[in-house]
Amino acid sequence: MTTQVTHPERLELQPEEEANRYSRQSILRSERMYGEGFQSPGGIEAVEAFCSMLRMREGMKILDIGSGLGGATFYFAERYGANVVGLDFSQEMVDISMERKEEKKLPCVSFQQGDIRTAILPKDTFDLAWTRDCILYIPEKDLVWKNVYASLNTGGQLFITDFCKGKGPLSKSFMTYLGDCHYHLQDLDTYGQTLETAGFQDIRIEDHTKAFIDSLRDELENLTTTSNQFFREFSESDFDYLVNRWDKKIQFCEQGDFLWGLFIAEK
Ligand SMILES: C[S@@+](CC[C@H](N)C(=O)[O-])C[C@H]1O[C@@H](n2cnc3c(N)ncnc32)[C@H](O)[C@@H]1O
Repeated sequence: MTTQVTHPERLELQPEEEANRYSRQSILRSERMYGEGFQSPGGIEAVEAFCSMLRMREGMKILDIGSGLGGATFYFAERYGANVVGLDFSQEMVDISMERKEEKKLPCVSFQQGDIRTAILPKDTFDLAWTRDCILYIPEKDLVWKNVYASLNTGGQLFITDFCKGKGPLSKSFMTYLGDCHYHLQDLDTYGQTLETAGFQDIRIEDHTKAFIDSLRDELENLTTTSNQFFREFSESDFDYLVNRWDKKIQFCEQGDFLWGLFIAEK
C-alpha cells in the first residue's frame, strides 16, 4: 500500500521558469554526469553512505522530496523494503520515474507531481523525510519545513543535502550566478536555524563541500574520458554546457562562495 499525497489548488509560488527548468534532454544529460537515477552527486555510493548515518529499518515509510529520477527512492524500496513516496515538482521527472518503476515492478513506490510547499501530506506518517539538492530552488523555506515536520512521525528523521552559500562577502560573479540560476541559498547556520524554527531538534550540520568538489572533478573527468560515448547521445553544445557548469561550481566552491551542506534532524 502506498501513502497518498493530495494537493490543494495549485499555488503559483515557484517562478514559472522553474516548471520548465527540466526537459527530458536536459534531465538525461545531467544523469549522464551524476550516474543512473541521479541528478545529484555521488550516485548510489553516496546514498549508501548517507543511510549509514540514519536509523534505517525494514519496511519504514519514507518521503523523498524532489525525488528526481528516483535513484534514492528505488534504493530505499529495494534495500529496505521501504514504502516510499517520491514527490517532485517537475512532471518530466515524475514521468521518467514512473516509466522506470514499471520496469522495476516495485509496488511500494509511488511518484507524484507536486510542490513540497503546498502538497497536503499525511500527518505523523513518515519515519524519514529525505531530500537531496532540492530546497535550493525554493524561496519559502519556512513553508517547506513546516509541511515536512508535520508529516513526520515523532522521532522521525530528516536528511538533507543542499546547496548553501558562504557567510560572505560573496563574489559579484557568484551573486550573478545565483540570480541566473534562480537559486535561493542560505548559509549553513541560517539553514539550521530555519529547521529549528520549524520545530526540528538535534540538528546536525556538516559542511561537505570538499566531497562535493571531489565528486564534481570525478564527474568531469569521466565525461572527458568517455566523450566518444557521450557524443553518440548528446551534442557538442551539451558537452560545452556541462564542462562550463561543472567548472563554475568548482570555482565557486574553491572561492568559499558555494557550500554543500548536509543536515540531519529529528522531530
Ligand atoms: C537537483 S534535482 C535532485 C533530484 C534528486 N533528489 C537526486 O538526488 O537525484 C532537484 C529536484 O527537485 C525538484 N524540485 C524543485 N522544486 C521543488 C518543489 N517545490 N517541490 C518538489 N520538488 C521540487 C526538481 O524538479 C528536481 O527534480
